Amino acid sequence: MALPESFLQDLRLRNPISDVVSSYVNLKRAGRNMVGLCPFHNEKTPSFTVYTATDSFYCFGCGCGGEVITFIRKIENLDYIDAVKFLAQRCGMQMPEFAVDDSLGKLRIRIFEANRAAAKFFNNYLYSPGGKKGLDYLKNRGLSDSTIKHFGLGFAPENTYELNKYLINCGFTEFELEQANLAFKSSRTNRLVDRFIDRVIYPMIDLRGNVIAFAGRTLNKTDKAKYINTSDTPVFKKSENLFALNYAKNTKEKQIILVEGYMDVISLHQAGIENTVACMGTSLTKEHAQLLSRYCEEVVLCFDSDNAGSKATQRSIEILRQANIPIRIIRIPGNKDPDEFLNADKATGAEKFKALIEKSRNDIEYKLSLLRQGVDLSEPSAKVSFLTEAAKIIAGIDNSVEADVYCGKLCKELEVEKASMLQLVNKYRSRYRSDAKRKQLRFIQTEDTRPDSLNPDRNKRLKAAKAEESLITYIFGNPDKIGEISKRISSDDFVTEFNGRIFACISEKLLSGGTLSLTDIAGKFSVEENSRIAFMANRLPGDLASANECVDIILSEKKKQSLSSTPNAGDDDILNYINSIKKGKQ
Ligand code: UTP
Ligand code: MN
Repeated sequence: MALPESFLQDLRLRNPISDVVSSYVNLKRAGRNMVGLCPFHNEKTPSFTVYTATDSFYCFGCGCGGEVITFIRKIENLDYIDAVKFLAQRCGMQMPEFAVDDSLGKLRIRIFEANRAAAKFFNNYLYSPGGKKGLDYLKNRGLSDSTIKHFGLGFAPENTYELNKYLINCGFTEFELEQANLAFKSSRTNRLVDRFIDRVIYPMIDLRGNVIAFAGRTLNKTDKAKYINTSDTPVFKKSENLFALNYAKNTKEKQIILVEGYMDVISLHQAGIENTVACMGTSLTKEHAQLLSRYCEEVVLCFDSDNAGSKATQRSIEILRQANIPIRIIRIPGNKDPDEFLNADKATGAEKFKALIEKSRNDIEYKLSLLRQGVDLSEPSAKVSFLTEAAKIIAGIDNSVEADVYCGKLCKELEVEKASMLQLVNKYRSRYRSDAKRKQLRFIQTEDTRPDSLNPDRNKRLKAAKAEESLITYIFGNPDKIGEISKRISSDDFVTEFNGRIFACISEKLLSGGTLSLTDIAGKFSVEENSRIAFMANRLPGDLASANECVDIILSEKKKQSLSSTPNAGDDDILNYINSIKKGKQ
């Protein structure tokens, strides 16, 4: 549902992009524009620019861009209408009545409602005779009644249809239950079957208190999957949500502890360590790291001490380092997970766990200690290869004081000259730097030939695409010339579909007498598409003569395109085509 233009204009004026961005990014003035470190990728020199003239932003480092609504969509992980609501709330504007009436928004609300009803159902069932085995299980694992209530735990009945029968009775449709991933159609019987059957249920709550997903744990050792989780739905993306962040974000701690399992989170919260979260059936992603960086100053990784846990630790270290988040690592003694560690000694478990946090090492110390495991340092060649690998790790530290400290510590312990170790570190450091430079250069050089997912025709028809993009840039800079341009060319003449769609949108807007702001058209494009549009809108436009040249190029490229595709058409067309070639030769 399109929002009224007057509303969008008001929204844009009351939410100046530099104000909105400033609450996330430290901006400095640079001429007419403002620059800062891009919040969407990791960088040390600012390539994120806010353009006051077009009320938009663009990052030359990662290519993201757009106007204020797109910025909020990206940074707050919201869809279009929710981003508009967010901004309206920010400046105290009332949303137009019918704006909430969009179909996806409606479906999302229904899914939230269905999930909430399902969570209540599961929780009630836990306390019924059918759910007794679930309740016994949770009690056996040491959970108190108040913890079960706090997390809203439940049990899914053995009967395959119990939940969906109940929810259909409550007025939900089959479509809504399928979209919520609470049930699916059996291809054999064509009947709706519950997704969670005979399992202990852990609901996931988002930061606004909505029930967004569930995990179900089997009690049968023979079941293949110990846990099943809700798949991605219109209200849930597992790569962007963390279990229990709704509680963890409210603690006063500077750290957030990331553990592997749901039970680990629940036991730690019960023990008073509420700054704990877990991923939900996936490994840590960039999006998770970005989310964490908003709610804490440091992440403490506390994965299981088995092989899989150690691999997950190393993977997570790389992702968190990329996001510039300081990291600590806890290794629990005795091959236990945090839940087992706490339950091994109920009286002192929590204190002992806190002591582990106190003693936890940062990622560099962790990597060095892993490297050192099982190495016989009295053996000269083993010592040399250990130091060489250690130098590579230390070379990866950007902060030179920090690097110097680790070097000094290691050299003292192993009785080697610090100067020679530093030399080795510097050698690897400059190698890393030139690797990074080469990568960057390759990125710039290959930019135009990389496959373009937004505009798949672009690389095949580069000449036309570039002319189209220049023409769009021209119109953004000279909206008063649309009449003249549109006499010569229409969106149907565009060679690439994506650029044609942009041209159609802006020319329609201008020709009907409207003004052209990125905010007015943002709702018609995806976040990525808006980035590309912001790039075009913020380049320097050429003059009318070069715009006309662009039109010529597009028209002649279009002609070539229709000629070369003609042989696939009907017989008459082929005849005409041959004739036209003959004529051309004369
Ligand atoms: P674990 O097997 O370590 O789970 O898997 P846990 O939490 O310690 O389980 P308990 O203590 O036996 O009840 C760690 C996490 O990996 C995901 C879940 O998020 C789980 O909490 N997982 C594991 C799945 O998604 N599916 C599985 O089949 C197993
Ligand atoms: Mn466990």
